[in-house]
Amino acid sequence: MELITAMEKRQSIRRYKEGNIPIEDLREIIRAASLAPSGKNTQNWRFLVITDERIKLGVADTIESKAQRISSSISQVDSKKGEKFIKFCKNFTTFFKNAPALVIVYTKEYTPEGYHELGAMGESMDFLHHLKYCTNPACQGLGAAIEHALLRAVDLGYGGTWLTSPNYAANEVNEFLKNETGFAPEVEFFMAAMLSLGIPEDNQKSPGRLSVDEVATFI
Ligand SMILES: Cc1cc2nc3c(=O)[nH]c(=O)nc-3n(C[C@H](O)[C@H](O)[C@H](O)COP(=O)(O)O)c2cc1C
Repeated sequence: MELITAMEKRQSIRRYKEGNIPIEDLREIIRAASLAPSGKNTQNWRFLVITDERIKLGVADTIESKAQRISSSISQVDSKKGEKFIKFCKNFTTFFKNAPALVIVYTKEYTPEGYHELGAMGESMDFLHHLKYCTNPACQGLGAAIEHALLRAVDLGYGGTWLTSPNYAANEVNEFLKNETGFAPEVEFFMAAMLSLGIPEDNQKSPGRLSVDEVATFI
């Protein structure tokens, strides 16, 4: 498939047809992710590919339990917001129950060059915080890797959604995986996103985009 066709075809897929993704295709999707550029070639990404139905549903249950707890807390302040949180979780998080594959994406922090030295020289906390947490290369490289994976998935005839909403339950998901499978992310790595993957159901809607003139300035 032409690259531009894959880009145009890619959309967030939240409903899936019956059918699994062969392991060699999943490996290929991860290989494509690994081709992404990253600051200093840190390759600050790791992937846990889950096709075991019981484990995948266990991850979903873990997230739903945490969402219930968060919803109760929010409801103490604003009951409508609490209800909305649970609805969001069902529609935009645990829909991955119906996907044949779930990929958990881990990353690690990246300390910008000179960060500690600048701190020692009295550089402002605002500047250092911005450098480390807003413009940080780690999340930019990770984003490139995830997009590579999604585009390769489209190229192979699949579809998926990039999710960060499960991050609310990152600690609980880690604990569940450790207890049930013995899996633990590498030292310093933490959960940053998930990817649901499968064969797309037809007719899924995507929001529109700003035009080139709205997002770019040419001088
Ligand atoms: C960093 C990131 C986080 C996202 N998190 C979620 C999520 O938790 N749940 C979800 O359903 N979609 C999630 N999405 C998908 C976006 O909602 C979607 O990409 C956007 O609305 C544009 O629609 P499209 O992907 O169909 O073009 C996420 C996308 C990105 C890039």
